[in-house]
Amino acid sequence: MTAIRHGCAGGLAALRGAGTRFPDPENNGRGRLARMLVDLGPTFVKGGQLLSTRRDLLAPEVCDTLAQLYDRVPAMRHEEAEGAVRRAYRTANALPFAEFDWTPVASGSIACVYRARLHDGRQVAVKVRRPGISERMRADFALLAAGARMMEWMPGMRKVPARRMVTQLGFAVLRQLDLAAEATALAALRGNLTGLRYFRIPEPLREVSGDGVLVMEYVPGLGRFGPGEMTREERRELIRRVLHGVYQMLFLDGLVHCDMHPGNLYLTRSAEVVLLDAGFVVPLESHVKRLFAEFFLNMSMGRGKECAEVVLRSSEHVPPGADLDSFRAGIRDLVASAHRRTAGQFRLAPFATKLFDLQRRSGIAAAPEFVFPLVSLLVLEGMINELDVDVDFQAEAIPTLLTALRR
Ligand SMILES: Nc1ncnc2c1ncn2[C@@H]1O[C@H](COP(=O)(O)OP(=O)(O)O)[C@@H](O)[C@H]1O
Ligand SMILES: [Mg+2]
Repeated sequence: MTAIRHGCAGGLAALRGAGTRFPDPENNGRGRLARMLVDLGPTFVKGGQLLSTRRDLLAPEVCDTLAQLYDRVPAMRHEEAEGAVRRAYRTANALPFAEFDWTPVASGSIACVYRARLHDGRQVAVKVRRPGISERMRADFALLAAGARMMEWMPGMRKVPARRMVTQLGFAVLRQLDLAAEATALAALRGNLTGLRYFRIPEPLREVSGDGVLVMEYVPGLGRFGPGEMTREERRELIRRVLHGVYQMLFLDGLVHCDMHPGNLYLTRSAEVVLLDAGFVVPLESHVKRLFAEFFLNMSMGRGKECAEVVLRSSEHVPPGADLDSFRAGIRDLVASAHRRTAGQFRLAPFATKLFDLQRRSGIAAAPEFVFPLVSLLVLEGMINELDVDVDFQAEAIPTLLTALRR
């Protein structure tokens, strides 16, 4: 119904972003698209957020609109939040909090975050899942999956991998409902990155968490400040720190935060990097981690021939008659065009699209696991460019890559 009210046609035209103009300039297609997704509910908000990273598929203005969905969700009502917290601790004698501020610090589509104090005086952040959200999102996905099955039968739609898209989206979105899994992922990331003293990941406090309530150490002083408020050197140093953390996750630990947008990755004035929200953290299988590292290292060194071999080894299926010569030549050109590029001179989405095109044209089936490292970097790319377009992100990776590949 919501979609009908907002006008599906407007939403779809906005998605295509083909410069469509709507009669009412205030109520333009993109604003309408954002409102429609918010009204449709959390499944669609999360879906929109994920789609916002697909700059290879959607027009830039549409991606910008979808990216704004991060902060636009109204908070839970006080009674609703208090009810959820009380239910989470119903089997305990009392709540673990001495004080609880019911004005949320932030409100997302799945949960709201509050500030509280434990009985021992520690200040904590409390992430409270919205009541009823799990049932609602599961129902949405069942519906979407049915819709996708139907779509694949419709003339002209058979080539759209609607079902695969819904499954992938569902995997990423539904796992964010599980706050206990999030606590485990947060602890694992925190353990992995302890060696980087400028990285800060809040400690989950599982002994005082409840069902649908994640309690963690509170990180004070999180705020956004514009790149203009830092010197060039400060920005450069911060971005190096971010990159080293990310490269460690990708190439050494094989546990990757796939949602490093500015609402989850904060840079502080004391040049710390604060990483929050382990709702979308994905383990990489060791062969995926290794192949990704090999590809990245060869690319950083401009070795296109080796890159092509890595892609071939990573592929799920190479058909007998595949034209491997033109595939290899294509990869060599692609790598040559990317080698020695700084962050500002490189765009990941077109690069990945060309890579997939080359594979498709030769009938080579890419392994689906590589989508997660890509998503992780795609989400981060905007922030890197905002901070320092000149950073040599390939050279910065080499020390970590060499360590990883020596193992
Ligand atoms: N440990 C924390 N300390 C301080 N602020 C936090 C903490 N955890 C979350 N927040 C605040 O709450 C916001 C939302 O938290 P997050 O875990 O990203 O939830 P969501 O899954 O809804 O995105 C963050 O952007 C941050 O402003
Ligand atoms: Mg978040």
